[in-house]
Amino acid sequence: MSPRWLDQVTSLARERLPEPVFRYVEEGARDEVTLHEATAAWRSIRLAPYVLRDVREVDISCTLLGDDFRLPVGIAPMTLQRAADPDGEIAMARAAAATGVPLVVSSNAGSTFADIAATGVTWWLQVYVAVDRSSTEPLLRKAIADGASGIVLTADTPVLGTRYRLPDEPPVWEVAEPGWVGVNAPESIGLTPADRLKAMDLGPADVGWLVEATSLPVVVKGVLRPDDARTCVDAGASAVWVSNHGGRQLDRVVATAHCVAPVRAAVGDDAQVYVDGGVRSGLDVLTASALGADAVFVGRPLFHALAAGGQEGVTRALEELASELVESLRLAGCSSLAATAGIASPDRGFGPPTRP
Ligand SMILES: Cc1cc2nc3c(=O)[nH]c(=O)nc-3n(C[C@H](O)[C@H](O)[C@H](O)COP(=O)(O)O)c2cc1C
Repeated sequence: MSPRWLDQVTSLARERLPEPVFRYVEEGARDEVTLHEATAAWRSIRLAPYVLRDVREVDISCTLLGDDFRLPVGIAPMTLQRAADPDGEIAMARAAAATGVPLVVSSNAGSTFADIAATGVTWWLQVYVAVDRSSTEPLLRKAIADGASGIVLTADTPVLGTRYRLPDEPPVWEVAEPGWVGVNAPESIGLTPADRLKAMDLGPADVGWLVEATSLPVVVKGVLRPDDARTCVDAGASAVWVSNHGGRQLDRVVATAHCVAPVRAAVGDDAQVYVDGGVRSGLDVLTASALGADAVFVGRPLFHALAAGGQEGVTRALEELASELVESLRLAGCSSLAATAGIASPDRGFGPPTRP
């Protein structure tokens, strides 16, 4: 058995989580083609390390949206965390604060923004924009009041992608206890269901509106195409987040590992580039950095680490990623994240550094 904690958390979570919750976390859209390609795509990329470089000191720190972090790894927004641990997002936030990484809080979280902020974590709010734009405003106001340092607009969900369930399996929402989700948006209860539906007409103007309405840096999550990335930046985004929603939306979309370099080339130095989807090791983090990502975000493994070991379980997972990243950087002859530019090539040819 692998000695890695990250290789153990999924089976531990399977034992501890209610079956519909475990399946909800694990599942992908339709035939799960994209879901199953995610980690393999990171592993398909080959590295050409440097030698004769001083790697006694290795710096894995980074600055994201103006804040400094200990490592270029963040916690992706995920709902239902209180199904994994009674403290849910609070336990996740304490682990993020202890490790020095950002926490992205789902708009459908089960803990209040105030309680999350009280842990001292640096946190960003993930939002879906509703048909009635103004219905998103109370959530934004609350996040600003409780110290959010960024807004993440999820742009890949005009509708929920279909995921298949076993014939006799209840939807996860039927087993969810009251208070596990949606505690930060009670004001939206007065809206009609149609007003609360996710907008299907999101456009660049919505990015500009979020920047203006919050005065916070805005990140657009769910970008795969370089032309879309450029549009986001031109509309005012501070960062683009390469994501296919963990393979949970449109199936058969390209693996995120293969999108980082083209997106970085499209945005140049005008914005930061983040990526998620199938990132499972420090070597994956090194690969993402080498392709041009400023940070990676991790979803399912950290949900499972929360179920497997609460706050300590998440801290252990993040520390494992940190030490694996340090080892990988040393072996790659890189003393910093910036030094990784050009050591990875998606097409296996190696030339001069590709990062601008
Ligand atoms: C249980 C679960 C809940 C999620 N909830 C949200 C959400 O509320 N908002 C969002 O933008 N993405 C959500 N996502 C997608 C993640 O933020 C992220 O894009 C994805 O999980 C990354 O892939 P990984 O799980 O392979 O690391 C969710 C993913 C999972 C597994």
